[in-house]
Amino acid sequence: MGLILEVNNLTKKFGGLTAVNDVNFEVERGEMLGLIGPNGAGKTTLFHLISGFEKPNSGSVFFDGVDITGKKPYQIVNQGMARTFQLVKSFRYLSLLDNIAVACLSPRGKEAFGSTGIDEAASSILSSVGLVDKARLPPVILPHGDLRKLEIGKALGTNPEMLLLDEPFSGLAHEEKEGITKLIKRLSDEGVTIFLTGHVLRELMTLVPRVIAMHQGRLIAEGPPEEVANNKIVLEAYLGRGGRFA
Ligand SMILES: Nc1ncnc2c1ncn2[C@@H]1O[C@H](COP(=O)(O)OP(=O)(O)OP(=O)(O)O)[C@@H](O)[C@H]1O
Ligand SMILES: [Mg+2]
Repeated sequence: MGLILEVNNLTKKFGGLTAVNDVNFEVERGEMLGLIGPNGAGKTTLFHLISGFEKPNSGSVFFDGVDITGKKPYQIVNQGMARTFQLVKSFRYLSLLDNIAVACLSPRGKEAFGSTGIDEAASSILSSVGLVDKARLPPVILPHGDLRKLEIGKALGTNPEMLLLDEPFSGLAHEEKEGITKLIKRLSDEGVTIFLTGHVLRELMTLVPRVIAMHQGRLIAEGPPEEVANNKIVLEAYLGRGGRFA
């Protein structure tokens, strides 16, 4: 086992606003960790800092024992960490198969799938995220739930050791949430380390054994979901901002 991710004193300021404020936490290899917090807590900014989309003002991030602070997103992906976006991003007019194939052509993708054939690998990933029957369609005509699955599929094309999922349930209908939950559970069972965010703790409750909670850039609680859900400071953070909690 051992640690796969170490975040040390990470801070990010946007002008006068400290979006991520002296954040420290660790993730064990193979763990599934949830990050909760009301709107504007700093969850996405924290993901951006870890995955190289933003540079921190101070602090450090170690992945697999290597200092990745300030590295570019593609360098971090090449080391085995992939992420999805809260605001779904895909090649809108390429087929779903080609969207995944592009990811499979990354260095780690080629290493893992090159001998199988990129199209076969992309097709198998599409099948694992439940989209194989739509392989030839472009994302532009698909419903939101399918786009979220495609996001995860694209990340899997880079054969990651660790996946960061930013609000994988947001905007989904109940059945779609169940589908994504099953998919995340399966990936976790296969050994992928997962770090995911959510506004609504209920969505993460059945999935993750441990959560960390963030408010106004700071980590305010850590522990099993039931414990964090009843933490006074966490409750105040949500209710004070008018957020939904469970
Ligand atoms: N590029 C930016 N420039 C200036 N301010 C930013 C920028 N990105 C984020 N912020 C601010 O930083 C704070 C944290 O935003 P962030 O998107 O990280 O929160 P979040 O927890 O992901 O929220 P949500 O639950 O709505 O997704 C917010 O006040 C936001 O307005
Ligand atoms: Mg966010």
